[in-house]
Amino acid sequence: MCGIVGYIGYREAYPIVIKGLKRLEYRGYDSAGVMLYDGEELKLCKTKGKVSDLEKKASKAITTNGTIGIGHTRWATHGVPNDVNSHPHLSNSGDLAIIHNGIIENYAPLKEELIKRGYVFHSDTDTEVLVNLIEEVQKKENLKLGKAVQVALNQVVGAYAIAVFDKKNPNEIVAARLGSPLAIGVGEGEYFIASDASPFIEYTSNAIYLEDGEMANIRLHKAMKIRKIKDDSLVDPYIQELQMNLEQIEKGGYDHFMLKEIYEQPNVIKDTYRGRLHANEGIIQMAGVEDNLEKFLNADRIIIVACGTSWHAGLVAEYIFEEFARISVEVEYASEFRYRNPIINSKDVVIAISQSGETADTMAAIKLAKEHGAFVFGVCNVVGSSISRETHAGAYTHAGPEIGVASTKAFTTQITVLTMIALRLAKAKGTLSNSAFHAYLQELEIIPEKVKEALETNEKAKEIASVFKDAPNCLYLGRGYNFPVALEGALKLKEISYIHAEGYPAAEMKHGPIALIDEQMPVVVIAPKQGHYDKIVSNIQEIKSRSGKIIAVVTKGDTQVRELADYVIEIPETSDALSPLITTIPLQLLSYHIAVMRGCNVDQPRNLAKSVTVE
Ligand code: F6R
Repeated sequence: MCGIVGYIGYREAYPIVIKGLKRLEYRGYDSAGVMLYDGEELKLCKTKGKVSDLEKKASKAITTNGTIGIGHTRWATHGVPNDVNSHPHLSNSGDLAIIHNGIIENYAPLKEELIKRGYVFHSDTDTEVLVNLIEEVQKKENLKLGKAVQVALNQVVGAYAIAVFDKKNPNEIVAARLGSPLAIGVGEGEYFIASDASPFIEYTSNAIYLEDGEMANIRLHKAMKIRKIKDDSLVDPYIQELQMNLEQIEKGGYDHFMLKEIYEQPNVIKDTYRGRLHANEGIIQMAGVEDNLEKFLNADRIIIVACGTSWHAGLVAEYIFEEFARISVEVEYASEFRYRNPIINSKDVVIAISQSGETADTMAAIKLAKEHGAFVFGVCNVVGSSISRETHAGAYTHAGPEIGVASTKAFTTQITVLTMIALRLAKAKGTLSNSAFHAYLQELEIIPEKVKEALETNEKAKEIASVFKDAPNCLYLGRGYNFPVALEGALKLKEISYIHAEGYPAAEMKHGPIALIDEQMPVVVIAPKQGHYDKIVSNIQEIKSRSGKIIAVVTKGDTQVRELADYVIEIPETSDALSPLITTIPLQLLSYHIAVMRGCNVDQPRNLAKSVTVE
């Protein structure tokens, strides 16, 4: 989704804004732009394409070393990606400049009204409507920028994070949010505005995260004022100390963030269970779960809501919760759940899973569940994110910033958290034998070592990638705990390599997908020794007799599948329930190498955004 950066202070703004936009590239975008104030004029430069294209264009257009600037990476919603539709947008007078992340849903009637009043529009965007609405309010009611922004925002329906500058009052930037994240970095005599803290981490570790419905008057040499947009009441700014560091958001010698994040998994899984899992003592302790244990134990069922990869982690959790804790679980796409009048009651526990903590559909599902009286527990990665604040309680995954658009370490850390919750509940309910409970704790503790071992499949994955990189289609099959891993493997491949891929429960193959199989079709089969091994061997035989090309993920030492498969990737032995943490690793590597070999932009695949803050 769009990225926002702003600076007001004593340093040259342009390099800060450009570097900040580069840090936000991971969010996904198709065009970029900057506005610099040179003390008299607003200097604007916008382009379709990457921030590097913007830099080239700006090297001629931006000649100022002004200390106030705003910049934007746009992910098109209203209007195609082109130079004109890129942000910042100026008001008709040329005095106001705005950057916006989100959607103004009622922009059409507002635009009509403004056209009647003589406003002219150059772009197809809803954002240009908003900046002119602010200008109209300012003129009509003779208001300063902050007040005009507030009055205008009270007329709009939709979601936004905005930063607005007015050259008539150049010591101020006004920022506001509803439904899209906005952080303000607070330095000595300078302020930073951004969609997340990564653009300003090297300048300050103090940040204010605006809450939904709040706006900030960010003024040079004056205290910042934060107020509620609706009723104008003042809010005490809560300054947070950032946990992120610069190293975490740089590539650290890897070619891509995705590869770095794949390799981080042994360490971040440890971070996820650190202080929570005490295998030798037989204890699992998670504050959010302990404080609400009764709610979990009295739950009629657990409903998991999530999107994309997080939804796949939810599916793995369904198998684990039902097996370990004997609680009935339903896993829902947040986008379907929120619109289908679901039956929810106060004895339901809803678990919302989200890496970014900003996904609009998941957020809406949470609000719906709360309205029906359910207890909502969040599993988020981004600390202080909207979902982590909206839920009643939760557990962070502690995976650190995930910059690659394709989720990798978020998936495995989400499964780790959910497994720990299931084990904690199993202990309280007595649904696992003591020995099984202790064995799982011990195994979870050594999972990072097994993930490390699974990473050694990198060369094999690369070799297989070179054979199948030009395949137009690919099928992924798994059973039981590894069915969601098949879905996740297929999603990874399609999103970064643009190869059409489908994930299926292996037994379902006979009910349709088997028709696709011929000698051109690569079929990735997840076939570890545990679980439904014999059944999956039969499925492999069915593929083989139709000449499909079999790539099998097997337990080290396997001989039976090896005889049937064209390629095997060996992973260390694990229990069935914990196997998704291991089987997913070679699939991540396989899709990574295929995408690289096809020349795709691995970290920023086309059309995708890291956090989907619009419906
Ligand atoms: C896939 C991917 C997406 C996200 C989905 C949900 O690699 O990254 O499918 O998983 O957009 O995002 P979060 O977890 O931030 O709610």
